[in-house]
Amino acid sequence: MIEIGREYIPTPVQQEFHNACLRYPVVIFVGAVGAGKTTALIWQVIDDCLAVRYNRGVLAKQTYEDLEDALLPDLLLELELSKIPYHHYKRRRCLVFPQTGSVVHLLGLGDTIKHLHRTKGMNLGFVAIDQIEDVPREVVIFQLTRLRLPNVPANRRHLFATANPVPEDHWLYEFVYGDPDRGIPPAVKSYVVRATLDDNPHLPEDYKNLLTQSLSDEEKERYVRGEFGFLPYGNRVFPMFDKNLHVFPVEFDEKYPLIIGMDFGYRHPAAVWVQVVSEPEDEAVRKVIVLDEYFGKDLLLDDFIGIVKERTSAYYPKAEIVFWCGDPFSAAQKTSYGEAIQETLRIKHNIPLRTRRVPVDQSVNNVAGLLRQRRLLVHPKCKILIKALQGGYRRDEYGEIVKDGFYDHIVDALRYALDVFAPFGSIHSIVPALNRAFRLKRVLGQFRPT
Ligand SMILES: Nc1ncnc2c1ncn2[C@@H]1O[C@H](COP(=O)(O)OP(=O)(O)OP(=O)(O)O)[C@@H](O)[C@H]1O
Ligand SMILES: [Mg+2]
Repeated sequence: MIEIGREYIPTPVQQEFHNACLRYPVVIFVGAVGAGKTTALIWQVIDDCLAVRYNRGVLAKQTYEDLEDALLPDLLLELELSKIPYHHYKRRRCLVFPQTGSVVHLLGLGDTIKHLHRTKGMNLGFVAIDQIEDVPREVVIFQLTRLRLPNVPANRRHLFATANPVPEDHWLYEFVYGDPDRGIPPAVKSYVVRATLDDNPHLPEDYKNLLTQSLSDEEKERYVRGEFGFLPYGNRVFPMFDKNLHVFPVEFDEKYPLIIGMDFGYRHPAAVWVQVVSEPEDEAVRKVIVLDEYFGKDLLLDDFIGIVKERTSAYYPKAEIVFWCGDPFSAAQKTSYGEAIQETLRIKHNIPLRTRRVPVDQSVNNVAGLLRQRRLLVHPKCKILIKALQGGYRRDEYGEIVKDGFYDHIVDALRYALDVFAPFGSIHSIVPALNRAFRLKRVLGQFRPT
């Protein structure tokens, strides 16, 4: 498809990307570092400019400075080496191809308002974004509305972008894959091209060796294999968590009460829907099942409770008994925040909050114990909780739990519910009590009436 004289011979994955660009309105090239993503992006831009007369598009990165340092030199180099004529208007931040009259505007999209103004009234043929994961979702959506330059054939009116692997809770993930477990379709008709380091034969061999030797398994997964994922540092709090053992499509059982664990907070309030169920054949074995999770963003307490309530009545209309659990400390506080919580819950929503004061370590041990005994099962749609149990929730080098402002909230929500209704995971907590009982028995034993 692209045959402009010289050396750019796309690798098979790059070719897949170019083909997809002509068939899908949105194409994202996700992959390992150095997989050849940016090179492919640049050549798609060049191809669009040379294949369409008077085309007009945007080549963007998060900031213009970034683009000037890291993207523009690559673009100019490719043009020079391939002897493709162009004019670079530095002050107007654009590139013109005299053969076709096509224009590429160079933009920093994260610089938002000021630079967005430049594309506000523009009709564009293409939008190319390098490292789209750094750009806010709203800005990307806005760029999509610009794709309406009339003289451009429909298959060339497209947005294409590169991305480094992002965590599964990144907006980009839902944007391209949707969330099948919850029935959320992808935002747009898009195609994802994935590449690993092995897909680029043009890299120096020692570069690859260096990467594979110095990275941890999780880092390799992300940077070498280009998998979506996250990078935990520190130690996992729940190393016994195993997706094969603990993730299961559990279902709501109306025989048992529904328990909601909540962690309040503005940035990321979190909730989990939990049940404590007994095995039919063995009533003594109780299990905890986590049915669902909710992870809010920038929500006032009142709105958060509203959403949790709505979800509860929508998903569990048959739940007759519902218990609400929360943070024992913040709810009992005499501060304005603690009082606001109490007032919102009790007076406004008529929710009695159940709490149990348990030291954090004991509470965490309880969850660990339940996992170890395989008495905690999590529904696969609880993506964030699963990530947290896999390693998002972790300890730093001093053994302190990392308050990362993200994973800790969802685990807290779970802990608050389990502390009240399922404290049977930790054996440690009952040892002192047992000792006391034994001592008492020894003392009393002598006087026991026969
Ligand atoms: N088809 C190709 N022919 C020749 N060289 C290529 C080709 N594709 C990529 N390269 C070279 O491979 C190197 C890495 O490519 P590129 O910068 O596009 O990777 P990337 O996936 O964008 O990496 P990063 O994730 O670090 O941004 C560059 O030096 C580039 O010139
Ligand atoms: Mg790149």
